[in-house]
Amino acid sequence: MVWRRLTSRGDGRDGNGDGMALSDEAVRDALRTVRDPQLGRDLISLRMFGGSVIDGGSVTVHLTLPMHGYPSEEELKDRISNALAKVGADAVDFDIRIDVPSWQGNGQQAAIGGVKNIIAVASNKGGVGKSTIATNLAVALAHSGASVGLVDADATGPNLPTMFGLPSGYQAESDRGLHPVERYGVRVVSLGFLIPPGAAVVWRGPMIGSAIRQLLHDVEWGEIDYLLIDLPPGTSDASMSMAQEAPIAGAVVVSTPQQVALEDASKAVTMFEKLDVPVFGIVENMSYFITPDTGQRLEIFGHGGARDAADDLEIDFLGEVPLATEVRAGGDDGKPIVAFDAENPAAEAFAAIATRVAVKAAASALLQAPTIPVL
Ligand SMILES: Nc1ncnc2c1ncn2[C@@H]1O[C@H](COP(=O)(O)OP(=O)(O)OP(=O)(O)O)[C@@H](O)[C@H]1O
Ligand SMILES: [Mg+2]
Repeated sequence: MVWRRLTSRGDGRDGNGDGMALSDEAVRDALRTVRDPQLGRDLISLRMFGGSVIDGGSVTVHLTLPMHGYPSEEELKDRISNALAKVGADAVDFDIRIDVPSWQGNGQQAAIGGVKNIIAVASNKGGVGKSTIATNLAVALAHSGASVGLVDADATGPNLPTMFGLPSGYQAESDRGLHPVERYGVRVVSLGFLIPPGAAVVWRGPMIGSAIRQLLHDVEWGEIDYLLIDLPPGTSDASMSMAQEAPIAGAVVVSTPQQVALEDASKAVTMFEKLDVPVFGIVENMSYFITPDTGQRLEIFGHGGARDAADDLEIDFLGEVPLATEVRAGGDDGKPIVAFDAENPAAEAFAAIATRVAVKAAASALLQAPTIPVL
């Protein structure tokens, strides 16, 4: 709960509400005119208004935000305060709670108990940084206060145990399924916890499907706001199975700036469209390199191609992550940069992308169905 008293807005005489007694109805009507800066719809149809307490000219607005670390909180409060000043409020307080809305899907896939939003991290190309991005986004979302899970869906080359610094043998299993391993605030499930590191596992298509099903459904997740899935490269069995096994709120497509990587990213976008999975947008990884000695910015693989590709594909550009030794070292040492060096520009980039992903998830969940005003 956050309580904050905003500065008094005078006696209401400067608004239209001269002498008018405030009522909950008047507050509601005023908020019908206020649009959420991120989601672009009014607060009533977004179900963000949870009622008001009126005491003379003072109003306490119960406001529900759809994500942790909501980036436009102050702007939203200003919009509300201004709208209420016009109907005669002279002081506005807020009682804020956070309720991450849940993506319902189209009803064709079984929901995962307790999991609100499933987000796939994918690319057609190998080695572009899917696992690195999935790991750091998961940690960033957890740091914002959300409950986060992460599934390593790369059956043949699971890397998340290394990136989280957890060797095999960690995953506990019971009659009720796998227990996620919690680290850096993220609940992780990976076949890599079950098989010895470096062991070659030969999977056939149907086996991958059933492994994915288990990694999603036979897990004691608890309450999860965002379940990220780190996919193997390619339009593989894993991606197909996953889209069939669970309602995916959206996909984050990772690319590096070179033309070949962008072509592969476009294929991933097409694949998700065919699978009827919404695409949240593209991330450009290894976007640029800052030389430590001179601070010069080098664009080793080119730069900005992913933004252009996003424009061409008419999807969002979610941000760019620099090529940084610390990111690579964090992956190798099991110490994600977001958890260990939050001020590093790469960590800041991950945090900004995590915020955009959470906004996209909130927008999908809240705007997916016709929103019926709650009276
Ligand atoms: N921004 C970055 N800066 C420096 N190194 C990075 C960056 N992103 C990823 N790497 C490194 O590049 C390598 C490949 O990254 P990662 O394993 O995340 O890619 P991937 O797309 O998941 O690969 P695969 O297709 O094999 O699953 C790793 O060593 C990782 O640490
Ligand atoms: Mg990977």
